[in-house]
Amino acid sequence: MSSDKLQTILEQTWSGLAKATGQADHPWRLPALGAHGLNGPEVRTMVLRSVDPVTRQLIAQTDVRSTKVPGFRKDPRVAWHFFDPQTKVQVRANGRVTVHHDDEVTRTAWAAVPEANKRNYATPSAPGLPVDDPSISQAQAGAYTAAYANFSVLCAEITFIDWLQLGDEHHRRAQFTWTGSDWRGAWVVP
Ligand SMILES: Cc1cc2nc3c(=O)[nH]c(=O)nc-3n(C[C@H](O)[C@H](O)[C@H](O)COP(=O)(O)O)c2cc1C
Repeated sequence: MSSDKLQTILEQTWSGLAKATGQADHPWRLPALGAHGLNGPEVRTMVLRSVDPVTRQLIAQTDVRSTKVPGFRKDPRVAWHFFDPQTKVQVRANGRVTVHHDDEVTRTAWAAVPEANKRNYATPSAPGLPVDDPSISQAQAGAYTAAYANFSVLCAEITFIDWLQLGDEHHRRAQFTWTGSDWRGAWVVP
């Protein structure tokens, strides 16, 4: 890394993301996730479930039947967008997503999903399909039998980070690229 300051920004970015996963009201807990969908660009809000700075993973969960999943399988390149209005820091992170379904990763994650959230995965029809009455699209509490079969974990391995902080007098922007063995950081014009 070219300067101590860049190293600090990178470390604070990863630790800040990791911390946000445990803070319900932290804006970085609800990033937008963009990708090349089957029919063009797509973006949606996701809950950032966990972060592993060592393996550079940003991890979320979704219904394997949702239309984003075939999109990820076709083109696994994704872009995350985070903004904290308090610190005025925007983080954009690019990488490739792996969809986990009915494996060791999903089994471990499923055990930690609160019971109330499990029913999100038990809807009779797939997300995005038409329904006459929105209330009957909701699974009933306790209807978890089929839910695990629809549960998937999205692990995005990050290889590029664009960090921007808006300031009163000047803005600062840095980019970090994973070289394969470490991060290379550089200041860029905001
Ligand atoms: C605050 C908030 C959090 C959300 N968290 C998730 C999530 O963690 N996983 C998920 O699949 N969808 C989540 N959604 C719904 C997605 O934004 C999206 O509507 C849904 O996944 C369908 O997207 P798709 O059609 O691109 O598959 C969330 C929506 C909001 C508003």
